[in-house]
Amino acid sequence: MPTSTILGTGMAVPDRIVTNDELSTMMDTSDEWIRTRTGIEQRHWVSPGETGASLALTASTRALDAAGVTPDDIDAIVYATSTPDHFAPGNGVYLQQQLVGRPIPALDVRAQCSGFIYGLSVADAWIRAGQYRRILLVGCEVQSTGMDISTAGRDTAVIFADGAGAVVLGASDRADRGVLGFDLHSDGSQAERLWVDAPGSMYHPRISQEMVAEGRHFLSMEGREVFRNAVVKMPESVNTLLAALQRSPADIALLLPHQANLRISEMVQKSLGLEPGQVYNNIQRYGNTTAATIPIALDECVRAGRLREGDLVVMTAFGSGFMWGSAALLWG
Ligand code: COA
Repeated sequence: MPTSTILGTGMAVPDRIVTNDELSTMMDTSDEWIRTRTGIEQRHWVSPGETGASLALTASTRALDAAGVTPDDIDAIVYATSTPDHFAPGNGVYLQQQLVGRPIPALDVRAQCSGFIYGLSVADAWIRAGQYRRILLVGCEVQSTGMDISTAGRDTAVIFADGAGAVVLGASDRADRGVLGFDLHSDGSQAERLWVDAPGSMYHPRISQEMVAEGRHFLSMEGREVFRNAVVKMPESVNTLLAALQRSPADIALLLPHQANLRISEMVQKSLGLEPGQVYNNIQRYGNTTAATIPIALDECVRAGRLREGDLVVMTAFGSGFMWGSAALLWG
């Protein structure tokens, strides 16, 4: 049975940088509050003309270049996003059209902050089954157009942001490299703690002026509950996965936690008994880009030369759904 290895990575963020000081001109907040509570110093937001599809295209092109493959080599697209350009279809088809051209399959995965890990599990399963040999996997998000950029929405507006990360996965015959396994979960009883209520097909019409006036189209979050669950579920998931693989946290060369909040990442690190050097954080520069945080972090680590052949890389995420989980792979 083939294993799947990461052949190349890429990322893209919008040109516009929004600093904490700029945010404090739009709402009652401060650089000090945002840094202390979240670790975030700046983030990127799209400008008119920039879309999820355009960010994904740039990130994907970079991943293909890094992998040394062309769009003709790609057999399928898996596209993780909770913020597609339109209600329907998903965004994978735009990448199919703009990057590949041939009518290859394109699957959108809606697992919010856990989207990249869920997407990786699907792509890995397709490769192991022998169905496809090279898959483009994207995590991409445009949150800024769905946030309440005012004091009423300050709890989310200072955290969430836009960006894209992509990897090319390829089938390999090496059993000592590539994706090792996953630990995946969900709990829909918590769905309304971090969600976008509307537009929704349960409403007639799906969105109305009244719903917009009530702000039901904005991302809404019970931050404390999310925090409380995230710091427990991510370490629990990593430990479950490592135990199944007969490994321990000490074996981790690099942990890529979903970039939700720097305090969450630090608590995950301590809970797993890891050294700061085993964990990568870049939320300071990008904020929380939902499904894009992990592939962006991975691309930065790869380009900085942080990974060596055979390194154990673990990814873990927690977010809206609630959905959470972890993935482990041996680099190379
Ligand atoms: N600037 C200034 N004050 C703010 C603020 C902001 N951007 N956002 C909220 N506040 C205020 C609140 O209104 C509240 O004021 P009050 O005490 O007068 O009511 C106060 O700060 C404390 O709010 P609280 O929500 O209790 O703060 P917190 O310490 O829990 O931190 C979060 C808030 C959002 C940073 C924190 O809950 C968090 O990080 N949660 C997880 C978020 C996350 O990871 N989401 C994505 C998961 S995928």
